[in-house]
Amino acid sequence: MLNVQNIKNDFPIFKHYPELVYLDNAATSHKPQVVIDALVDFYARQNANVHRGVYELSELASQAYDLARQKVADFLVARSNKEIIFTKGTTEALNLIAQAYAQSNLSRGDEVLVADFEHHSNFLPWQAVCQKTGAVLKLLQSNELGLITDEELQSKLTTKTKIVALAHASNVLGTINDLKKIAKTVHQSGAVLVVDGAQAIPHLSVNVQDLDCDFYAFSGHKMLAPMGIGALYVKEEILSEMQPYQLGGGMIESVALQETIWANYPEKFEAGTPNVAGALALATAIDYLKQISLESIRKHEIKLSQYLLATLKSIGKVKLLGEAPAEMRTGLVSFMVEGIHAHDLSDYLAKNNLALRAGFHCAMPLHQSRQCGATLRASYYLYNTQEDLEILLANLAKAVSYYG
Ligand SMILES: Cc1ncc(COP(=O)(O)O)c(C=O)c1O
Repeated sequence: MLNVQNIKNDFPIFKHYPELVYLDNAATSHKPQVVIDALVDFYARQNANVHRGVYELSELASQAYDLARQKVADFLVARSNKEIIFTKGTTEALNLIAQAYAQSNLSRGDEVLVADFEHHSNFLPWQAVCQKTGAVLKLLQSNELGLITDEELQSKLTTKTKIVALAHASNVLGTINDLKKIAKTVHQSGAVLVVDGAQAIPHLSVNVQDLDCDFYAFSGHKMLAPMGIGALYVKEEILSEMQPYQLGGGMIESVALQETIWANYPEKFEAGTPNVAGALALATAIDYLKQISLESIRKHEIKLSQYLLATLKSIGKVKLLGEAPAEMRTGLVSFMVEGIHAHDLSDYLAKNNLALRAGFHCAMPLHQSRQCGATLRASYYLYNTQEDLEILLANLAKAVSYYG
């Protein structure tokens, strides 16, 4: 069982805001002191550019950066650290795939499948690359639980499907999709599977070899690391065929007027000075999560979901968006309250120190396909308690009588 009070003490934000009930972890998580220290330490003790200088400080920074890459590779159970590209986050990683892989592998009439619950970051890059190449973007409809069923996938896959891009877990419905099964079906039809892991990686042990996905993208800031750092896993056989989409320093072997030879991957895909401090802090966040254990965090979140799902229904007029049971969702519940706009509700809650997100959560196609307006999302993590949810419920009940 998690010792939540001890965990909370590791996060300085709660010392500055002792009354804060933070339920917006799907947007970003807070950072433990060790992660903040890792950032500061890099600039105070190790600061130098990587893979460029031969002096000691630069070599030490390069070694630390390489070690951070290895930690990410181990965390994802990748075959090799060469399969890990550091990015700013999920958005940059997905755009990288669209431009460095999809653009040269799609032709007119080919098809790309995405789910109706995708975050705009896993929707817009595909829409744009389809418009450029003449490929067709098609939608997979999730069922009432928020799952892409095998029947739905089979019915949309054709011989023209080249890419299936799916969120491991939806940022609105919370539902965790059975990627292993999906990967098998996708590969049988000859397509590749791109996974947006932004909402899954903070909560689940991810093993990219076991899932057998071709790409896995995630952001550090949702899993206790700083903003501006994330990573993209790409299966080596695919990576070795990909061409860079950003060009500049640090990604070449040699440059002459008429010809350039790229460096080997992953450096080939990391043009310019990388976010070394961020990578080191991401590795520290991974160590911190491992030390607490993702398994215990998961058990804790399931209990919180069970409590919230059971009690939310006791407040009249509440309607859930996404019916998945606690065991099938990450750490979030989205809902509406009949007759009260989600923004009015979140305003009311904010005045009582509750931080929740209201709106479309960068997932407009989902709200369109479910024909609903803005929703409120409560998302929790390792430092949240049942008491936080009790405060939420008490304030929701008050808000309902205030606006009702
Ligand atoms: C499912 C999903 N995909 C992609 C993103 C984009 O992540 P980032 O803004 O860190 O690049 C988010 C962020 O909320 C998300 O929830």
